[in-house]
Amino acid sequence: MCGIVGYVGARPSEDILLAGLARLEYRGYDSAGIAVIDEAGSLGSRKKAGKLQALRDSLAEHPLPDGTTGIGHTRWATHGGPTDANAHPHLADEDRLALIHNGIIENFAELRAELEADGVSFRSETDTEVAAALIGREYRRTGDLRTAFRAVVNRLEGAFTLLALHQDEPGLVVAARRNSPLVVGLGEGENFLGSDVAAFVEHTRRALAIGQDEIVAITPEAVVVTDFEGNAVESTPFEVSWDSAAAEKGGWPSFMAKEVAEQSEAVANTIRGRIKDSAVVIPELDGLDDLFRDVDRIIVTACGTAAYAAMVGKYAIEQWARVPVDVELAHEFRYRDPVIGERTLVVSISQSGETMDTLMAVKYARERGARTLSICNTQGATIPRESDAVVYTHAGPEVAVASTKAFVAQITALLLLGLHMGRVRGSLPAEESAAAVLELENLPAKIDDVLDAEQERVSQLAGWMADTRSVLFLGRHVGYPIALEGALKLKEISYIHAEGFAAGELKHGPIALIEPGQPVFVIVPSPRHSALLHAKVVSNIQEIRARGARVIVVAEEGDAAVLPFADEVIRIPLAGALFEPLLAVVPLQIFAMALATAKGLDVDQPRNLAKSVTVE
Ligand code: F6R
Repeated sequence: MCGIVGYVGARPSEDILLAGLARLEYRGYDSAGIAVIDEAGSLGSRKKAGKLQALRDSLAEHPLPDGTTGIGHTRWATHGGPTDANAHPHLADEDRLALIHNGIIENFAELRAELEADGVSFRSETDTEVAAALIGREYRRTGDLRTAFRAVVNRLEGAFTLLALHQDEPGLVVAARRNSPLVVGLGEGENFLGSDVAAFVEHTRRALAIGQDEIVAITPEAVVVTDFEGNAVESTPFEVSWDSAAAEKGGWPSFMAKEVAEQSEAVANTIRGRIKDSAVVIPELDGLDDLFRDVDRIIVTACGTAAYAAMVGKYAIEQWARVPVDVELAHEFRYRDPVIGERTLVVSISQSGETMDTLMAVKYARERGARTLSICNTQGATIPRESDAVVYTHAGPEVAVASTKAFVAQITALLLLGLHMGRVRGSLPAEESAAAVLELENLPAKIDDVLDAEQERVSQLAGWMADTRSVLFLGRHVGYPIALEGALKLKEISYIHAEGFAAGELKHGPIALIEPGQPVFVIVPSPRHSALLHAKVVSNIQEIRARGARVIVVAEEGDAAVLPFADEVIRIPLAGALFEPLLAVVPLQIFAMALATAKGLDVDQPRNLAKSVTVE
């Protein structure tokens, strides 16, 4: 969490920093701040609790002098509440050094005690100010920011990206990273730093990912990367595949609305280049055929929405590749003693590629000899760098905190992986593969059909239900993870209690929740795929209806069996069983978004959350 941006060049830095922070605000919005070295060589800084606008207002009222070297921060509070004092930057060395931080310094209490014994006093409750004071103390000794960083970083435990500038070294920003993201933007006569490329993509699309335990120093003309000991490190630049327009709202009322509408494109882009002669061939996985043939178990690990995508992927991979698949929440995975061997493939899924829980699960799996593959939406992110192979989803930048287009792209990537492995392992007949490919190719148009046909009605329904206090979601088979995802979307952006259940589980407890008027969404599987499963869900609907539930059914076109028992029916186009989740989730996303909007909430930046969860 927390967004960080840095700039050195010839242009006034304040606007560049504020624009970068606006693009990174999804990472946290408890406070924001900047520090700039002005033309007279003095360091000026400003920080404000609240969203970025509070900082903008303060700067408009009392401007800082112009300067061409600066750093900026948007915070998701960990140590210390969201106050002005706890906001970053934190100053040291008689306010001549400014430092910002993303992550958690776990041993900050003992370091703080050491500094206090040395006479240092603190103005905040943060772990960050401790790092600032340590670097400030080293700077006084050495007069060199890079040397000061090297002396301090190995003393810090936990996760950090630190960025600092010192007024005695204008035109220089130094940064270090361990377990938190950091990317350099390479410009002409100027260079940038950011938590991700969104921070600078409007200025340059050439980027350099900084690796684990590395320090980078940027000046207008040079970018020098070393390890924590000062040894030079080779890094290869990459080209960002999207431009700044992709990260703008572009006339939509919210990023979430835009991203929901972009889902067909996200699926189409994720499929593109991965189908050859009616079969799935993922070029990034060239050379892994032996591994795929040899693997005897797959563990898919992820958090939140990505974990629900993983649950859908389990059905597809098991069906097509005939390998047992387990889905593990990343934060549970490494705190027991999972059975992992050399023939285990651990697949991680992450939109951001920075989720700390998922990253730690990947590292844990590697240490135990598993092969690792990541499914990720963010180029240059840490999780793909730590994995043996990566399949990128091409959903484009996802800015709204609630994941939508990344989710459908993750499921698409998992379907592709299942089909690719099925082909390599010889477990998938060619006709079945060709039919699945056709289904995949038809998905984008069907997603748009759901949006066109149901958006208005579902939004209306949400408007009527703005005072609802609880909504339940039921599904079976691949409809179960969609029920979980529908509930998560509603909770996170509308703050309404919501829960998803496997429909068959109802009678084992949750049915006690049903009372007259209780809204329940039910994802109904197609009767064409399994008459038995369909009949079971219809009887679950009857059970809750008999107890007074208000039933909102998501069912395929033409399924008349649901009509007698449904208060509302939302239709999705006909699709193969494993492809239905990509359609059924769309009305649930629209419902959550419309209900949050009806309650006057900020759908893009829900309370207490941040998009990229880089703490454990
Ligand atoms: C919910 C949501 C989160 C993320 C989760 C993992 O809408 O966005 O549950 O899915 O925090 O994030 P990534 O995919 O970045 O690892």
